[in-house]
Amino acid sequence: MHTRSLPLLTSLLYLSSTVTTVHAAASSKRGIVYVTPASPSDDKIWSQPSNDLSWYYNYAYTPTAALASASHLSFVPMLWGAPASPTSADTSFLDSITSQLSSGANITHILGYNEPDGGSSTGGSNLSPDAAANTWLRNIKPLRDEHGIRVGLPAVTGSPGGIKWLENFNASCAARNADEGCAADFIPIHWYGNFEGLASHMGQVRALYPSLPIWITEYALSHADLKETQGFYNTSAEYFDRLNYVDRYSYFGAFRSSKSNVGANAAFLTQDGKLTDIGSWYLGGGATGNVPKGKAGRRMEGSILSVLGVVSAVALLLVAY
Ligand SMILES: *[C@@H]1O[C@H](CO)[C@@H](O)[C@H](O)[C@H]1NC(C)=O
Ligand SMILES: *[C@@H]1O[C@H](CO)[C@@H](O)[C@H](O)[C@H]1NC(C)=O
Ligand SMILES: *[C@@H]1O[C@H](CO)[C@@H](O)[C@H](O)[C@H]1NC(C)=O
Repeated sequence: MHTRSLPLLTSLLYLSSTVTTVHAAASSKRGIVYVTPASPSDDKIWSQPSNDLSWYYNYAYTPTAALASASHLSFVPMLWGAPASPTSADTSFLDSITSQLSSGANITHILGYNEPDGGSSTGGSNLSPDAAANTWLRNIKPLRDEHGIRVGLPAVTGSPGGIKWLENFNASCAARNADEGCAADFIPIHWYGNFEGLASHMGQVRALYPSLPIWITEYALSHADLKETQGFYNTSAEYFDRLNYVDRYSYFGAFRSSKSNVGANAAFLTQDGKLTDIGSWYLGGGATGNVPKGKAGRRMEGSILSVLGVVSAVALLLVAY
């Protein structure tokens, strides 16, 4: 994942700090949660080799064609969901990854289920822990055991039910595979809410899985005003860059503000596809001053959700993909 050598990075940082002070620090941990764009031209923003991104996922088994030429972006396949039957013999994910590997794809990491504790209306894969364990052991385990691919545990929602789901999953895995259950190498987390809540959630996950590095694979302060949203973005990016047990992160914002289901101000792109301040900072640039507008063409103000600091475990799908 480290696509730039340290001396080069250091000299780039030195250069940018002497030329201008508005550039955010470069990060080798940053990636994109890819969703189908409002316009194909938006893809060019992520595929620019000069940006600060090093990886992406798209909730799917196979890479996004529009990003295939971006050699600085390493693709992380995801097993999004699984058949509901706890005895399903489905191996479609294993088959796809094995075939990509034999065609020379450089797959080093894979992600497990997306919000299996959440329903389809918020982008969750709505899985029983036992059905999830069954499909995991048939698809993920062989990739880890035989191909040395590093595996992320299911990415549950940031709600209390998420941790409970993981405990049940762990128990089903242990019952099915007494040796090592559903062994994994890192734990992805999702968070929609304020920074204090995020830090506390990370602490809880860290206490449960002290040996696993954390990836924050979806996060944003949703439906808040612009200044608050930018403050959250700054504080969390600085936090993730500083913590050595955070290996990677991907902010949920790679879309236009007019298509956002997490509030216009969280988006990387304006309604016209220009980088917002947050979008530009995330890519390693300076503020653009482009103010995002929402679905009705108005600026979005803070909603009651963020005012109350309530976790909204919203995810994908309203941003169509
Ligand atoms: C595979 O990708 C990783 C980055 O994700 C890189 O470090 C490694 O050198 C690549 N391996 C090959 C054989 O290209
Ligand atoms: C997972 O299950 C194993 C075996 O029952 C247990 O030792 C371990 O503490 C569990 N881990 C978590 C995080 O629940
Ligand atoms: C966020 O950080 C940028 C520099 O990277 C700074 O210009 C901006 O004022 C900060 N905003 C807030 C609200 O902290």
